[in-house]
Amino acid sequence: MDDTTQTEGPIVLVRPEQEPMYPVVFEVLEKAFGRPDEAQLVEKLRQTENFDPRLSLVALRDGVVVGHVLFYPVTVEMPDGTATHAMGLGPVGVLPAHQNIGIGEALIWQGLEICRKEKEYRVIVVGHPTYYPRFGFKRASTFGLKCAYDVPDDAFMACELKSGAWDGITGVAKYHPFFDGV
Ligand SMILES: CC(C)(COP(=O)(O)OP(=O)(O)OC[C@H]1O[C@@H](n2cnc3c(N)ncnc32)[C@H](O)[C@@H]1OP(=O)(O)O)[C@@H](O)C(=O)NCCC(=O)NCCS
Repeated sequence: MDDTTQTEGPIVLVRPEQEPMYPVVFEVLEKAFGRPDEAQLVEKLRQTENFDPRLSLVALRDGVVVGHVLFYPVTVEMPDGTATHAMGLGPVGVLPAHQNIGIGEALIWQGLEICRKEKEYRVIVVGHPTYYPRFGFKRASTFGLKCAYDVPDDAFMACELKSGAWDGITGVAKYHPFFDGV
């Protein structure tokens, strides 16, 4: 797998995180968001059964962790009472001093590629409406999806990593309760 991304300047390596990196990942997320909530969320999710270390990625610049993204499963509860799953992108954070040079993009593209390889073709995100369309995200409401959280329509987005991945799937996307209030 080619996991080296040449951005405008720096060479950034995107890799699954390793346990010794956990403290620095905490710091990166805390500094990116200006609060500890997202860092604490990642710490809690690592302890859960559905955590997949292949989808908890760090960006390394000159060997130093400067960014992190997690993809974590969500449940889609459908109107007929059945449920299916998708992947939720986030949290994603890049150290302020390293933002806007392509590191977030490198993390997200790599994560989406791993999702595709794992045949996880449905991905949702709650986030900046101007940032995620570059990765193929559209308003989730166009797929008939709602978010269990009260978020603006344009901030809840979904993408399909294989054509038709959302066909026949509508309903309410529910995150792990650890996401509540974050
Ligand atoms: C959002 C974030 C992960 C993007 O990572 P990054 O490495 O800075 O971004 P990239 O260099 O990959 O991409 C740069 C683009 O992101 C956009 N961007 C950065 N922060 C943004 C924000 N808060 N809202 C909307 N767009 C944003 C820039 O405007 C730029 O757009 P352009 O390419 O059209 O000029 C990073 O800025 C960050 O950690 N922010 C604080 C935490 C956060 O908000 N996380 C995401 C929650 S949805």
